[in-house]
Amino acid sequence: MYTQSFSVPDDADAKSGLKAVPKATSENEAALMAQFDARIAADGRIEPRDWMPDAYRKTLVRQISQHAHSEIVGMLPEGNWISRAPSLKRKCILIAKVQDEGGHGLYLYSAAETLGTSRDDMLEALHSGRAKYSSIFNYPTLNWADVGVIGWLVDGAAIMNQIPLCRCSYGPYARAMVRVCKEESFHQRQGYEALLVMMKGSQAQRDMVQDAVNRTWWKCLAMFGPSDKDSLHSSQGMKWGIKRISNDDLRQKFIDATVPQAEVLGVTLPDPDLKWNAERGHYDHGEIDWDEFWQTVNGNGPMNRERLATRVKAHDDGAWVREAALAHAEKQRQRAMKEAA
Ligand code: 3HC
Repeated sequence: MYTQSFSVPDDADAKSGLKAVPKATSENEAALMAQFDARIAADGRIEPRDWMPDAYRKTLVRQISQHAHSEIVGMLPEGNWISRAPSLKRKCILIAKVQDEGGHGLYLYSAAETLGTSRDDMLEALHSGRAKYSSIFNYPTLNWADVGVIGWLVDGAAIMNQIPLCRCSYGPYARAMVRVCKEESFHQRQGYEALLVMMKGSQAQRDMVQDAVNRTWWKCLAMFGPSDKDSLHSSQGMKWGIKRISNDDLRQKFIDATVPQAEVLGVTLPDPDLKWNAERGHYDHGEIDWDEFWQTVNGNGPMNRERLATRVKAHDDGAWVREAALAHAEKQRQRAMKEAA
């Protein structure tokens, strides 16, 4: 049986009913590890109630929660433009897209919670600056062309990076990604279409699009993470079947797919070294400014402080909604208990 619900294992029939997570003792830990390794080697899925090594659990909590943070913080750059969209149609499309990102975040937080972490802990890690989110969201959206370029390039890169995660060894994450990726293709297409309209407009509009591409292209390539030789988590992630394709290979796939789109759009990608290499069957490209990348990842990008302050304020301003929902749930629980008595 195939399900998109991240909490129902793909082979739920075979696994009917909940089972307790086996406890590792010094005697059985080796056997549990062998079972886990065999499942990973057989390209199987690990489900929340399966025993798993702490390190596997910890790296998933780290990656899934930071992925969720990226979705939630990723709402901010475009959210700023909902009230300034150039038409009702664009406003409706952008509202739908930003709303999707919020849903992706909640979906991913829930997937992370199946590993035993809590929403409060994850949000505290984000709000305190301890947890990361995708560096791309720490740059300003200066005009409407940025909104189109975020859809075309940022969501385009996110799709490339997220599709392999649909085959991640951890069941809830993989299933969450199936649903997320379906919506991402709408995100990428709406951005590209908005740019096509602008490129048929005035010279000033065409210049705006080119300027937005110039400011975003390299930061987009960095979304795929450091180069493989410098990646801290990649090799273990690949062994555990969390990461399926390396950062550099995904980056190359993205470049190869995007260059023809840029040609149709009529924009120039800001890389003088970008050139088709028939021998490799790929585009050669220039080097990312990794110093700038790490500056931003480590909290010193142009908008890091503002993005985090906006997130913390939104969370604080929403406290009354959470309290009311919890009070209502408690009332319902009390009522159900009284009726059951
Ligand atoms: N932005 C911020 N931090 C980054 C980063 C980036 N682009 N790339 C790497 N880092 C951080 C890592 O989180 C890690 O820090 P940590 O140990 O404190 O967690 C450190 O840099 C070293 O990481 P690695 O060198 O091992 O990087 P990876 O090989 O793990 O690659 C990744 C990073 C590609 C983001 C990978 O973690 C991944 O695929 N994550 C899941 C998918 C994801 O988060 N995608 C990005 C955003 S989603 C999005 O944009 C959705 C859109 O719709 C809004």
